[in-house]
Amino acid sequence: MKFFIDTANLEQIREAQALGVLDGVTTNPSLMAKEGITGKNNILKHYVDICEIVDGDVSAEVISTDFEGMIKEGEELAELHSQIVVKAPMIKDGVKAIKYFTDKGIRTNCTLVFSAGQALLAAKAGATYVSPFIGRLDDISTDGLNLISEIRHIYDNYGFDTQILAASVRHTMHVIDCAKIGADVMTGPLSAIEGLLKHPLTDIGLAKFLADYQKGN
Ligand code: G3P
Repeated sequence: MKFFIDTANLEQIREAQALGVLDGVTTNPSLMAKEGITGKNNILKHYVDICEIVDGDVSAEVISTDFEGMIKEGEELAELHSQIVVKAPMIKDGVKAIKYFTDKGIRTNCTLVFSAGQALLAAKAGATYVSPFIGRLDDISTDGLNLISEIRHIYDNYGFDTQILAASVRHTMHVIDCAKIGADVMTGPLSAIEGLLKHPLTDIGLAKFLADYQKGN
């Protein structure tokens, strides 16, 4: 299972990278704005800065909603760095753009996916990653994890290569549940990754080992 961090915050990306378990980064326009990164040139530079910190794939999202605009933007993004994956929304022109990029050998992440049908379409278009937003489904009393299971089942039926990138992961239990179901990738905040570390018995056990060592020295 790959771990991506879902942020445009360079400090958090560096921290996750230093832990040694980071496989990539996902961003979106909201995450960029949250870090105060605005204006096309600053955003493009920020993508390159992110690529220089991590070893893996970095999703960069197009803003256009029409086919021609997405192609122009996506090609520019893909040329920025070999680690860039072009992120396009699950709309009609987005599907056409993903197919176009697939045929050109440009890797893609189909975002804003909320149903199994949308995920099937993304795979048919050849998306490298499909991003079902589990947290946002949970927010509206719909089981986000169930969507991951449905997509896993469909992709396995036909051997689709598209990787299921569980997105809108909010906490550690989401990570564990996604791993049980067999999501290929999860993207979430640093706190969701670091939560995997924690167990009170680990802390108690370590404190006892250290105290016993001190007794003997
Ligand atoms: O990866 C998608 C993500 O950025 C959305 O997360 O927490 O805004 O639903 P959230």
